[in-house]
Amino acid sequence: MSFRLTYATMYNPPDAMHERFEAALAHVEAGLGAHHRLFIDGADRDSARHVARYSPIDHELRLGEFALADTADVEAAMSAARAAYPGWHATPVAERARLLHRVGEIIEERVYEIAAAMVLEVGKNRMEALGEVQETVDFFHHYADDFERHAGYTHVLPDDPIAGFASHNASVMRPHGVWVVIAPFNFPLALAGGPVAAALVTGNTVVLKGASDTPWAGRMLADCVRDAGLPPGVFNYLSGAGRDIGEALVQHPLTAGITFTGSVPVGRQLMQQMAGGAYPRPCIAEMGGKNPCIVTEHADLDRAAAGIVRSAYGMGGQKCSALSRLYVHERVADALIGRLQAQIAAIRIGDPRRRENWLGPVVNATAYDNYQRHAEALRVAGASMLCGGARLGLGSAGRTALARGYYVDPLLAELSLEHPLWQHEMFLPILTVHRYRERDEAMRLANDSVMGLTAGFFGGADEVSWFHDHIEAGVTYANRPQGATTGAWPGYQPFGGWKGSGSTGKAIASFYYLAQYLREQSRTVV
Ligand code: ALA
Repeated sequence: MSFRLTYATMYNPPDAMHERFEAALAHVEAGLGAHHRLFIDGADRDSARHVARYSPIDHELRLGEFALADTADVEAAMSAARAAYPGWHATPVAERARLLHRVGEIIEERVYEIAAAMVLEVGKNRMEALGEVQETVDFFHHYADDFERHAGYTHVLPDDPIAGFASHNASVMRPHGVWVVIAPFNFPLALAGGPVAAALVTGNTVVLKGASDTPWAGRMLADCVRDAGLPPGVFNYLSGAGRDIGEALVQHPLTAGITFTGSVPVGRQLMQQMAGGAYPRPCIAEMGGKNPCIVTEHADLDRAAAGIVRSAYGMGGQKCSALSRLYVHERVADALIGRLQAQIAAIRIGDPRRRENWLGPVVNATAYDNYQRHAEALRVAGASMLCGGARLGLGSAGRTALARGYYVDPLLAELSLEHPLWQHEMFLPILTVHRYRERDEAMRLANDSVMGLTAGFFGGADEVSWFHDHIEAGVTYANRPQGATTGAWPGYQPFGGWKGSGSTGKAIASFYYLAQYLREQSRTVV
């Protein structure tokens, strides 16, 4: 039986899949407490400092000891990556692609074990974790195939017609050198693995920095890359705090380019830093979202409710693609809200190690405090709380067990349009709603954001092109119950932000993505 995830298995997993996951979880839990090192120049490296980390599921669940890299470790990783660069970029494309396919195979062999570790480290549910590991596998295969299919993007051009000389012309795409990848906590494997695969297949060498909340996922990726047999120094892994090593990585003279996934303020700062220095260097920044969904009076409301709940509350709203603004036509608003209330009330919140729980904790104390702050701001603003907020924190019987982790209750609130929370990315399971009268008003409101990552639409088939033509977002979904704004997959939905959500307008896993890791050399020979 194949355990490869599809939409069918994702939403209706067979028992055998659960059993495989539970066996892997038991195995991973039995090994908790281990010491996790850096990976530099083909070998593990101890850092001067390390930190004990605990699970957001349960404050007393100790995951292990994790290395905290410092500037000496940055120096070692950058030097190793630079030394490995000439050999790696001279390696034939077919061989680089073969090695990346091997990384993909190894990740797939370990899919359950890695997913179990991510459930413990980030608190996402098992299907979200399995989906992310599968997505990472697909990134490695996708970029390896894409680069091979395009023969490294080399083009032989016509001889130019200057009389008396036969000049032979070509366009050759060449790598930049050492590429730094800075990964986010919410997709600590996929949004590390994707850029790593892209940078490597195009001939760059890589230094990966994992998010400070997720050093374990990054280290598991490093193990897979190591076991695939890439030459020493081609890939290096650092775990640690951004404040300790972020600056050193960005300012390093050997840093030829950066891919960053994370918040808007940090992304903007990085772009400015990369524009300075001796000369500007490329910076691919995938940043936040404040993603809208429009529901018209012609929508299938059952589909809409399913897609909205998945996208607003899946992984506690901690996806850059999460839905956070809902605009619904006043004629169908009550009917849609009724469906949403029923579905939200049915969400099982709790320890994501258990099969029945769909919503685990948010990632850390800061996210938990932010939730309390935003819930209070909604209350003070007089928002109409349509759902949520009552199940946790009111001394119920469930409170005791859940108080051991960062659990929060999904919120649905009708909020006046002037409130700043319509503009602020919360990264939490909080969805605000507005009832509109005119379709054009809904579109104006949906586009009233400095962000432009994903957007959803539920309405009549003859309204879809109106939505596409007017919405300002890089990733759009119409009438999709599997996710109103979330769930892009490599090879199917290129994923990149417009406006403040992305720095380049080229999407992840799109036809144009790999070219960003290359620089063009025009070659004319007479
Ligand atoms: N692939 C993730 C999503 O679309 C980021 O939600």
